[in-house]
Amino acid sequence: MTDLNAANSGTYEFDNHFKINRLGYGTMQLTGSGTWGPYKDPKQAEAVVVRATELGINFFDTADSYGPWFADRYLAAGLRKAANRDQIFISDKVGQTRQGPGIWTPHGEPNYLRQQVEVSMMTLGIDHEDLLFLHRIDSHFSVADQVGELKKMQDEGKIKHIGLSQVTVDQIREAQKYAQIDAVENLYNVANHQDDDVVDYAESQHMAFVPWFPLNTGKLTGGDSPLSAIAKKYGVSEAQIALAWLLKRSPNILPIPGTSSIQHLEDNVAAANVKLSDNDFEKLSHLSN
Ligand SMILES: NC(=O)c1ccc[n+]([C@@H]2O[C@H](COP(=O)([O-])OP(=O)(O)OC[C@H]3O[C@@H](n4cnc5c(N)ncnc54)[C@H](OP(=O)(O)O)[C@@H]3O)[C@@H](O)[C@H]2O)c1
Repeated sequence: MTDLNAANSGTYEFDNHFKINRLGYGTMQLTGSGTWGPYKDPKQAEAVVVRATELGINFFDTADSYGPWFADRYLAAGLRKAANRDQIFISDKVGQTRQGPGIWTPHGEPNYLRQQVEVSMMTLGIDHEDLLFLHRIDSHFSVADQVGELKKMQDEGKIKHIGLSQVTVDQIREAQKYAQIDAVENLYNVANHQDDDVVDYAESQHMAFVPWFPLNTGKLTGGDSPLSAIAKKYGVSEAQIALAWLLKRSPNILPIPGTSSIQHLEDNVAAANVKLSDNDFEKLSHLSN
């Protein structure tokens, strides 16, 4: 049997301390419906995190807005049990507020961003953020003020790396005037890769590209998936094809599939063993319009 380990996806180096396995995990499924409230079975949420660490996942993507706060609490509880806690890299996000299930409102007031970082560090039980994304640029405040506040916190030692989420190449270029940008997190998957230019720009700048909705919220999985025929050809699941495509697309892509199921988690980690041929990769690339 092939070894089931996220290390098989290859590594990405953020800095001298953190060389992480490319296939990570996103915590957004560890909440109630509409990314609101507690997950129905908190022990299961924690168990998924623990199992992820056992499977070699050492990159976890989270945000205080997931729940809010519930996903962070389960993540912190799970990571406390990890044998290799000091090898685990967390990406966190600030700049969104929540008013109810499915409702998200960007808020980039610098004092609020600072508060979110401080409270998140308390919730996660950490003394600095490994990677902190501005979840959305808020048009009510300048990029200089929003990214500038994160840069101040970086200078204070509270943030190691700064990232941006859901941005264009022009927005990244503007933000680069105020801080070093080490990562981008945009919607991106085999059925929707309209942000190819952002992936290519990120690669040219040695910036990680973290694709959100890597499974297109689950629509790329299961028997109804447009990936079913090719999944059958490789003898793997549709989810694994979707993740294998991302891993082949660019060495700076770090997929973070979300799941509340240990079975799905194991299925996703097995994607690290799937090597698509160049021909199949090209054919799959045409799924996106
Ligand atoms: N920066 C941003 O603005 C932003 C926005 C959205 C998301 N994110 C991040 O991106 C991460 C991933 O996004 P996501 O979780 O919303 O969507 P996703 O990873 O594209 O898909 C998750 C869905 O797929 C299902 N699933 C997962 N693995 C599966 C498998 N092997 N077989 C069948 N179904 C499977 C999950 O259900 P089960 O729980 O039943 O497995 C869930 O419904 C989030 O966790 C979050 O960290 C960031």
